[in-house]
Formats: sequence, structure tokens, C-alpha cells
Amino acid sequence: MNLIEKIKDKAKSDRKKIVLPEGYDSRVIQAASILEKEKIAEPVLLGKREKITKLAKHAGISIDNVKIIDPEEKVTDEDIGLFYNLRRHKGISKEDACASIKQPLLYGALMVRKGMADGSVTGASNITADVLRAAIWLIGPAKGVKVVSSCFVMIVPECVYGEHGVFIYADAGIVPNPTAEELASIAIASAKTARMFIKSEPRVAMLSFSTKGSASHGLIDKVIKATELARKMCPDLQIDGELQADAAIVPEVAKIKASQSNVAGKANVLIFPNLEAGNISYKLTQRLVKAEAFGPILQGLRKPANDLSRGCSTSDIVNISAITAIQAHSA
Ligand SMILES: CC(C)(COP(=O)(O)OP(=O)(O)OC[C@H]1O[C@@H](n2cnc3c(N)ncnc32)[C@H](O)[C@@H]1OP(=O)(O)O)[C@@H](O)C(=O)NCCC(=O)NCCS
Repeated sequence: MNLIEKIKDKAKSDRKKIVLPEGYDSRVIQAASILEKEKIAEPVLLGKREKITKLAKHAGISIDNVKIIDPEEKVTDEDIGLFYNLRRHKGISKEDACASIKQPLLYGALMVRKGMADGSVTGASNITADVLRAAIWLIGPAKGVKVVSSCFVMIVPECVYGEHGVFIYADAGIVPNPTAEELASIAIASAKTARMFIKSEPRVAMLSFSTKGSASHGLIDKVIKATELARKMCPDLQIDGELQADAAIVPEVAKIKASQSNVAGKANVLIFPNLEAGNISYKLTQRLVKAEAFGPILQGLRKPANDLSRGCSTSDIVNISAITAIQAHSA
């Protein structure tokens, strides 16, 4: 059984309520139908019932048992007040708060905040920045988390490194240039994500272009500081840095460059020093060795919310919903 099938199976063992705010997108409607039929999650579509059922009928999709909520009908004065209070430091008016919170993207995040749903999956027709803002504003970072970030589960075929070819890459999607504190927070959040999706304990490598002092530069100092901070915050975590990518994953290179390290040569969680490095690396791995890339998986939020690519397929939406449900199991 491959990883995504295992994830779906685990999701079925304790079905979570996943809100899909883009109820007028036929890929989303189809995904909701599959999630319900295969009992992977309890999907909730947002929008006008009449319009969604018409779209479903037209596309030949059965959504008889799928819950539909119309934010315009459901929103309360309390919801408006809550959103107004969250955003008034940015000068939002009561009228704008009222109009904004009725938007499915924001209402979906509100549902997660209030416990009306266990997680949200959106981004089939909304841009990433808007999806992220909705999650950051309404769900917010978990306790002790400096910054919301993202990771990819990478499955590299015929690979002996990492966890039999499975790696977590972070951050590859959100934080352009993290500070040392933010990088430490990303490392800890990624270890938590790794525990959900990789069987064995996370072994976290803080990557750079130097291994254990082989070069010196301010950029390397940031990675060293982040490693120290993460160690202080999580003394039990297996984490080491700064490491070059080869020293992090290849045992023979680790023996030469970082023989004292408990992570070098066997890292399964790779933390990149900035978004350029992370994003370029995941795309190169995906294209050059035909690795599967699951994500971006948002991490560090109080409750799970995930983003889709606007080019996503129905099966991408089902897969990310299953991943979101697993995150909800451990939220
Ligand atoms: C996340 C993102 C939308 C924030 O953008 P931004 O311009 O900083 O947004 P805003 O200024 O409106 O910030 C919104 C709020 O979120 C907070 N915030 C921003 N990024 C945050 C993060 N990663 N974690 C936690 N909070 C964050 C800000 O502090 C701000 O708080 P406030 O409004 O209460 O003061 C932006 O960093 C982004 O688009 N990242 C994605 C990068 C990208 O394009 N990736 C594509 C590659 S796959």
C-alpha cells in the first residue's frame, strides 16, 4: 500500500469534518462526493444549496449525503464581532467585517476556529496568499509557534536515503526569508508533521552550504543559531546543523564531514535556510528523479487548513483532504 493510501485508510479510522469552501468548483464538488462515498472524511461544501446541487446534477455527481452550508444565511452577529475584533488593528470597519466574513474562504476558516469543522481545504480557485491570510487571521499559529510554514512529503523512487526514500522538505511554500527564531520554529513544526506521516522518529537536518564550520558566513550563522534555539525548545528532538545536503543524507559523506553527528547521514527531515532553497529543491527533486511531492502541507496552525494549487485535480483535493484529516487527528 502506498503512502497516500495508508493516509486515506488512517483518515477513515476516525472521520473528520473537512470544510471545502469552494462549493461552486466542479472538482471540489466531485472530491466532496468521493470523500463522503469512501468515508474518508465528512465533507462540508460552502455556498448556495440550489446552485451547488444544480452544478452537481449537471456534472452527474451525487452529493445526496454531503452537507452544504450557506455562509450568508449562517453567519451571526457574534461571528461578525469576532472577525471585527481580530482585524480592527488593521483599520477594518464593521461593514467590511460583515461583508468579508460571509466570504466562503474566510467563513471556512472561521468554522475551523469555532470547531464547526476539523480542518479546511481550499485554493482550487483562490490564490495562495488569500488562503494563507484566511488561515493566519482566523485559525492562527499554535501556542509557541513563531511562524506558520509549509512542507512537502517527498517520495523518491528507488532511494535508500531518508526514510526509505521518504523525506519532509520545509519550508518550500510560505516564509521567504525566516529569521533564526522562525527557522527554529519551522524545524520543530516539520518534526511534528514528520511524526504524522513518516513511521520512524524525525531526524532533522538544518541545511546550509557548510558542514560543521567548513565555511563561515552570516548566512551559516543563522542556521547555527536556529539549530541551537530548536535544541533548547525541544531537547529530545534529533536535530543537527549546519549540514550540507550530502552530509545530511549520505552515510559515507557524513562519516567524513560530520562523524560525531546523530543526524548526519540519516536525516529524513530537511530544513532549508530560506524559501528559494526549499522551493527550488522540491521542484528539482520532483522533476529530476520523478519524486512524488505531497503538499504544500501547512504546519504550525492551531488547527489544520491546507492550500491547493489552482491547477489541482479532483484526486489532489481528496488526497489533501485526507492529509488534513490526519493533521486534525493530532491537533
Ligand atoms: C503568508 C503571506 C500571504 C503573508 O503575506 P503578507 O503580505 O505578510 O500579509 P499581510 O501583511 O496581510 O499579513 C497578514 C498577517 O499575517 C501575519 N503573517 C504573515 N505571514 C505569517 C506567517 N508565515 N505566520 C504567521 N503569521 C504571519 C502578519 O504578521 C500579518 O499579521 P497582522 O495583519 O495581524 O499584522 C505571504 O508571506 C505569502 O504570500 N507567502 C507565500 C509566498 C509564496 O508566494 N509562495 C508561493 C510559493 S509555493
